[in-house]
Amino acid sequence: MEIKTKRLLLREIKQEDAQDVLEELNDLEVSKNLGSVPYPCTLEYVKSLIDYSIQESKNKKRADYILGIEYEGKVVGAILLLMVNKTQGTGFLHFDLNRKYWGKGIGFEATQAMVDYAFKKLQLKKIESNPFADNIASCKLLEKLSFKKSFFIPKKEISKATGKIHDVQVYIITRDD
Ligand SMILES: CC(C)(COP(=O)(O)OP(=O)(O)OC[C@H]1O[C@@H](n2cnc3c(N)ncnc32)[C@H](O)[C@@H]1OP(=O)(O)O)[C@@H](O)C(=O)NCCC(=O)NCCS
Repeated sequence: MEIKTKRLLLREIKQEDAQDVLEELNDLEVSKNLGSVPYPCTLEYVKSLIDYSIQESKNKKRADYILGIEYEGKVVGAILLLMVNKTQGTGFLHFDLNRKYWGKGIGFEATQAMVDYAFKKLQLKKIESNPFADNIASCKLLEKLSFKKSFFIPKKEISKATGKIHDVQVYIITRDD
């Protein structure tokens, strides 16, 4: 699948994108905010992630949508809609961007397009996102997208990159928001 926005192409990730993905994820400023990405990140890890993403894109009962954010011909980040349950109408939003491209509105443009796709095309009713509570950029981005603060879960997740235990701030948006 593909989603086009004004400046971006959200598309399936290919093995040819592995170096771009590695450049993005092998940065502690990025991975410290993510649950499952190790630091240092390796090409092997990235390739297995892309393998999973390709496999899942062919799955008729697809639950995980892992798309690359292509900007000016390069994959500069990823946008993920995970654990999609079409019966329940629910899914989880994740996102990450190469640090060189922060502050240009790319994160907002990509997440807005994915949320729109989830409500209009996948007919979801509710999307959740679970940033670490101290991840100000992420929390603010979700609020700009009209996500509402829900539960605060103390000591919920461990960052694989740093080993640090984080509180999680749950955010939710519904189709009617
Ligand atoms: C979160 C992330 C994707 C934001 O991407 P970005 O393209 O830089 O964000 P945008 O430029 O689209 O900003 C959108 C809004 O987010 C908020 N925001 C972004 N960066 C911010 C920062 N450093 N401090 C405070 N708010 C920030 C602002 O509300 C901003 O809107 P504004 O420009 O009108 O004020 C990026 O910082 C990132 O990849 N971080 C590391 C990985 C990560 O945290 N992923 C999320 C895990 S849940």
